[in-house]
Amino acid sequence: MTSRQIIRTFLLSCSIAAAAFSHPSEATAANPTIRPGEIWKDAAGDTINAHGGGVIFADGKYYWYGEHRASVRPNPQEGVNVYSSPNLTDWTYEGLALKASDQPGHDIERGCIFERPKVIYNKKTGKYVMYFHLELKGKGYGPARYAVAVSDAPTGPFKFLKSGRVNPTLMPTNLAYDKASKRAGEKMEWWTPEWRSEIGNGMFTLRDLPGGQMSRDMTLFVDDNGKAYHIYSSEDNLTLHIAELTDDYLDHTGRYIRIFPGGHNEAPAVMKKDGKYWMIASGCTGWAPNEARLMTADSMLGEWKQLPNPCRGENADKTFLGQSNYILKVPGKKDSYIAMFDKWDPKSLKNSRYLWLPVEWGEDGVPYVEWKAEWSPSEL
Ligand code: GAL
Repeated sequence: MTSRQIIRTFLLSCSIAAAAFSHPSEATAANPTIRPGEIWKDAAGDTINAHGGGVIFADGKYYWYGEHRASVRPNPQEGVNVYSSPNLTDWTYEGLALKASDQPGHDIERGCIFERPKVIYNKKTGKYVMYFHLELKGKGYGPARYAVAVSDAPTGPFKFLKSGRVNPTLMPTNLAYDKASKRAGEKMEWWTPEWRSEIGNGMFTLRDLPGGQMSRDMTLFVDDNGKAYHIYSSEDNLTLHIAELTDDYLDHTGRYIRIFPGGHNEAPAVMKKDGKYWMIASGCTGWAPNEARLMTADSMLGEWKQLPNPCRGENADKTFLGQSNYILKVPGKKDSYIAMFDKWDPKSLKNSRYLWLPVEWGEDGVPYVEWKAEWSPSEL
């Protein structure tokens, strides 16, 4: 061996030792990479069943919550599944974090629809709080309720607390009652500029005022100061609302805003970087993909403005054939975020896949998400 070869061999063995030392879980990972859209198996070899969900980091592990889905229609859902992982690529099934009830007439009686579950941790109470979109058994998508459940441990069991519409009798802070449209009962064609303008003026906000605002696709976001927000598609999916939660995260405070009235946004996912808030959302085409939207604001309850589609690369005009569901800020890494999308299979919702991709930042400070067939969280 020449002295150059000896140095090279020495450097190589040092870097292998360093890699193994600094990332023990990655060195032993069974799935070292993320392959968006492929079948993802858990540690037991079963296909991961956690759709429309969200991920948190707690006590050194990631927890992934998602809709349990079946392969047949109608879709008998068992509740909300939870998986745990040390590294975001190897997942162990931890069971149902929240189970459907066997009690007839219960809000989450088996046969109801559980969608887009999100969990946040409350530092003050030490509880894990879950919100999800609930549709009552046998009522289609009519009820449009949010539901809340709580647990002492990230894996559950979560205890169901309540469900309902949001902030009954309360007006959004960015719409004055006097200025709001009172024409909801009138005959007006939905495609006319007149109808559109009345939607903008809160015609449906007022329609739903007594019983509370509709809440379908949703996410939760916890700000640096611990304040949490519930972001949901309201007003027949025409308008997004952002509602502040109480300090224990179990209720709405009553402060909420409407954004992009008539904008038809759903599947909201939120992140914050350098004091700016960013939201990725989809249009409303059911399980079929459409072009993603990007929005930004300087405060959660402030003025939001819309920017162009943040997706780039293959199928970027159809959100990589998926739909946004969550953005994870990767703990312990500066400015690393993972955007999570569902690639729905409406024929077998269980067979829907996961598209997780790193968020990248342009020189203008605007985030974008580029298609990658394979990547590793250790690159972040
Ligand atoms: C989508 C929504 C999904 C689910 C679906 C039902 O638009 O994002 O979460 O509600 O409609 O058709």
